Amino acid sequence: MSDAPAVEFRGVRKSFRDKAVLRGLDLRIQSGETYTILGGSGSGKSVCLKHMIGLLRCDAGEVFVLGREVSRLPEHGWVGLRRDFGMVFQGAALFDSLSVFENVAYPIREHMDWSEERVRERVRRCLEGVGLAGTEALLPAELSGGMRKRVGVARAIALSPRIVLYDEPTTGLDPANARRVGQLIRALQVELSATSVVVTHDLGLCFAISDRVALLRDGRLALEGPAGEVREHAELRAFAEGSEPPPPTARPEAAIQPERPEAAIHRGGSHG
Ligand SMILES: Nc1ncnc2c1ncn2[C@@H]1O[C@H](COP(=O)(O)OP(=O)(O)OP(=O)(O)O)[C@@H](O)[C@H]1O
Ligand SMILES: [Mg+2]
Repeated sequence: MSDAPAVEFRGVRKSFRDKAVLRGLDLRIQSGETYTILGGSGSGKSVCLKHMIGLLRCDAGEVFVLGREVSRLPEHGWVGLRRDFGMVFQGAALFDSLSVFENVAYPIREHMDWSEERVRERVRRCLEGVGLAGTEALLPAELSGGMRKRVGVARAIALSPRIVLYDEPTTGLDPANARRVGQLIRALQVELSATSVVVTHDLGLCFAISDRVALLRDGRLALEGPAGEVREHAELRAFAEGSEPPPPTARPEAAIQPERPEAAIHRGGSHG
């Protein structure tokens, strides 16, 4: 069980109304790695993360988390499992009316029956870890964008999760703050020995922190491989420049997820 991937998608399909967003997506995220999913706006990156924590259910295919098939798990089955995850939402998503302290304490109170003193100590340590010691009493409105993102990170790591999901952690930050968040993700990776899944279109962040990188396009991975290998790949250059992707013949096979016949992908199709 311990060498099971942290997250695995097999032929995952998801449509909203008549719009197919994920079209037979396969991916395997190894335990302990930092895996970054790149993709244009609307390509399905956030949808992908939401499938990992059961906020969305796939129409077909399978999702495995820490070796367990979760795509058909009822909501109550997720209650314990979500404790293994920390999620930094796109745009921080703090509770505006709650102090920094209460924001970070929120998941602890939700999942644990800890003494107030123990909660305080954990919150203090998490805030210290993101460079925000002493900000407990402030409200989100009193923080800069970069500080809000870091409070979001502190909240995500409050329960020492095994998997941390980051949705656009640097969007809207100036270069210095973006770099700081990148360093924080890397430092937490070492400290928590967690698996990190990062969704971004920030290539600087991507190559500063990732072990492996995937490019999501047309509902599947157009490219996946070790950061050092994909960096100079034609697919990635096309993404970086916003130009047309290279024709299939120009793509080296090793780094490309094999195309699978539609029939093979359509597992569980009878589930509607
Ligand atoms: N709950 C939903 N209901 C209907 N459509 C949705 C829902 N969630 C996502 N979509 C659609 O799925 C597509 C992918 O959305 P997603 O949020 O995953 O994009 P993204 O890659 O994260 O983009 P961005 O970089 O802009 O955040 C979009 O067309 C979006 O409108
Ligand atoms: Mg998104």
